Amino acid sequence: MDNKKIILSGIQPSGKLTLGSYLGAIKNWAELAEEYDCYYAIVDMHAITVRQEPAELRRTTLEQIAQYVAAGLDPEKNTLFIQSHVSAHAELGWVLSCYTMFGELSRMTQFKDKSAKNSENINAGLFTYPALMAADILLYQADLVPVGDDQKQHVEICRDIAQRFNGIYGDTFKIPEPFIPKIGARIMSLQEPESKMSKSDKTAGGCIYLMDKPEDILRAFKRAVTDSDTAVRYDPQEKPGVSNLMQIYAACSGKTLEAIAAEFDGRGYGDFKAAVGEAVVETLRPIREETTRLLGDKAYLESIYKSGAERAARAANRTLQKVYKKLGFVAK
Ligand code: TRP
Repeated sequence: MDNKKIILSGIQPSGKLTLGSYLGAIKNWAELAEEYDCYYAIVDMHAITVRQEPAELRRTTLEQIAQYVAAGLDPEKNTLFIQSHVSAHAELGWVLSCYTMFGELSRMTQFKDKSAKNSENINAGLFTYPALMAADILLYQADLVPVGDDQKQHVEICRDIAQRFNGIYGDTFKIPEPFIPKIGARIMSLQEPESKMSKSDKTAGGCIYLMDKPEDILRAFKRAVTDSDTAVRYDPQEKPGVSNLMQIYAACSGKTLEAIAAEFDGRGYGDFKAAVGEAVVETLRPIREETTRLLGDKAYLESIYKSGAERAARAANRTLQKVYKKLGFVAK
């Protein structure tokens, strides 16, 4: 075994992947494979805390695996798997829910947001979600957890749960750190640049999906909200729309924010928005084409998630057995 640090992250298959999840997460993950031992889960068990249409959930899960690979995650170098295929997640999730306090869970902002949005279905799973997420992370003894800003609180509660458990039973879990990328950490809605680009965004044109057609992408950027000024200048407070477009352009083109400001100095927003749209189209084109090709190759996709689950289960079961023993469960 080598001594690479371990990374784990996950994305819910509750809808199509967005430009935000690509630039903010997957694109950065692809660069970590040489240096770290990386596990990436498609967290279908988390997704059912909100009602899902079964056929749609199955479709988006497979599409998400294909997109992970198409976006550059080499399945030989990264362990790509579906959460429900590794039963240790459910098992450790239950154990950890017994070491997670009601009061702690009540403070989670995502729980408050999601229960406000789903007032007819505030189920126990939505509430205990952070215990399952802690299990996802702790099973692999992850050092680093790449997440967006909105998930920092969940990584913090995971650390608290791990420390509590270690305090009672002795060293069991590695204490993970959140790993928040500098560029693309927060891609915002094109229509409401004060809120994160999200698949639950209902405003037309606010969210770009990886599989969107080029003409739809160009149109969405043409209509992106800016401001009444004309300067392409990075200032997230005063100019959230323009700053978001600059971030997107920087992530897609590799240019710096300063170079972008210079490129569009005195040219107005029309040219700028068109250029951002073009850059996004060219970034997503190969990913969309490769995803479509992979979705046609069911046997290959299956071989990826099956071998991913086997590898993941090997690592996860090692931790789970250690935990069961410490708890006093009789060995099988
Ligand atoms: N809660 C994360 C989200 O909604 C998804 C997630 C589940 C996750 N388990 C994880 C992220 C483990 C990182 C690590 O975006």
